[in-house]
Amino acid sequence: MGEPVNVGVVGCGAISAQYFRTIERLPQVRLVAVADLDLDRAREAVRPYPGTDVLSVAELMADPRVDVVLNLTVPAAHAEIALRAIAAGKDVYCEKPLAANVADAARVLRAAAEAGVRVGCAPDTVLGTGTQTARKAIDDGLIGRPVAATATMMTPGHERWHPNPDFYYAPGGGPLLDMGPYYITCLVTLLGPVATVVGAAGRTRAKRTIGSGPRQGEEIPVNVDTHVTGVLVHASGALSTLVMSFDGVATRSPNIEVHGEKGSLVVPDPNHFDGAVLASLLGEEGWRELPAAAGYVEAGRGVGLADLASAGLDVAGGAEPRAGGSLAFHVLDVMESLLNAARSGAAVTIASTCERPPPVGLRSLGEGPDGMP
Ligand SMILES: NC(=O)c1ccc[n+]([C@@H]2O[C@H](COP(=O)([O-])OP(=O)(O)OC[C@H]3O[C@@H](n4cnc5c(N)ncnc54)[C@H](O)[C@@H]3O)[C@@H](O)[C@H]2O)c1
Repeated sequence: MGEPVNVGVVGCGAISAQYFRTIERLPQVRLVAVADLDLDRAREAVRPYPGTDVLSVAELMADPRVDVVLNLTVPAAHAEIALRAIAAGKDVYCEKPLAANVADAARVLRAAAEAGVRVGCAPDTVLGTGTQTARKAIDDGLIGRPVAATATMMTPGHERWHPNPDFYYAPGGGPLLDMGPYYITCLVTLLGPVATVVGAAGRTRAKRTIGSGPRQGEEIPVNVDTHVTGVLVHASGALSTLVMSFDGVATRSPNIEVHGEKGSLVVPDPNHFDGAVLASLLGEEGWRELPAAAGYVEAGRGVGLADLASAGLDVAGGAEPRAGGSLAFHVLDVMESLLNAARSGAAVTIASTCERPPPVGLRSLGEGPDGMP
């Protein structure tokens, strides 16, 4: 393996600590600088990582050491920060969603293609043993031809625990754009791209109350649908039924189930890297747990960034990373189309498509680049 790729982080809020911890474990990447609109927050975030420079966003973008910008800002700022990084000639890896809307995401991918830089995007949880073991079981034919899936996410809302939850109720947020990326990226990884969607959506309350932190008790406006349901018709013909909600208290439905002609699978929470994959096969009683057979073991948020770095090292000109821009764009397109379908009451054809990313063999984080086939 060559020199690690130097990372500059923009946005040092709630999720940044998870990335910093993973980057420390990854030989392919090295944290060199951070930036935030709130410089005190940035300083506090990298206190455990002495030697990391705290810069303004403009300084970080101009810093010649920074190879890739890790964009951990709120969804409304994703496109702006990504475009600034691309204009500075840097690769960019973005938290999800790729942008607050498809038009902005298209601008990001177009600018990156013109500049010859690569775009990666969360979620990378699907590169862990949970989704990858389920994918291997499907690809190996364990459940026969997959015909359907269900995906359910039910929570009363992130304002209970997040100190600044405004973005979850602004365009670019809501249960679909916030949590849908995990579920739909997993479904696309398992069943391939989506061709058409139908949907219905609603919102129960005009305001939400912050439940923790210095703003506890403050009311924030709700400007997005908070219960979204739909059916994704995959290009393969498989049908995925989706329920994404900030309006329910709890659920006992599995996060994801996939049904094939010869068997059914329970797929673990796609917001986590690992978890048990269960199979029930035609002619057998009950469920059995499949041993972890694929994916990064004990992974953390940021493994997709290492994959982007590795893709660049392994392949002349740089390959599309597994947690890549075209997959993230397709997932955003599916989500926006689902909301449009819910609004119009008509089925919407998805204009974009993508390849299923290459599978990940069973491997540890420290093993270095996973050869891209
Ligand atoms: N909080 C979580 O558990 C979680 C989990 C997974 C993914 N995410 C995703 O991570 C992203 C960030 O979420 P968060 O919870 O850390 O949010 P946050 O509000 O806690 O932090 C965002 C940070 O970005 C900074 N910022 C915003 N706009 C900026 C700009 N233009 N330039 C520089 N800095 C800017 C803010 O000052 C803030 O410090 C979101 O896309 C979210 O969907 C969050």
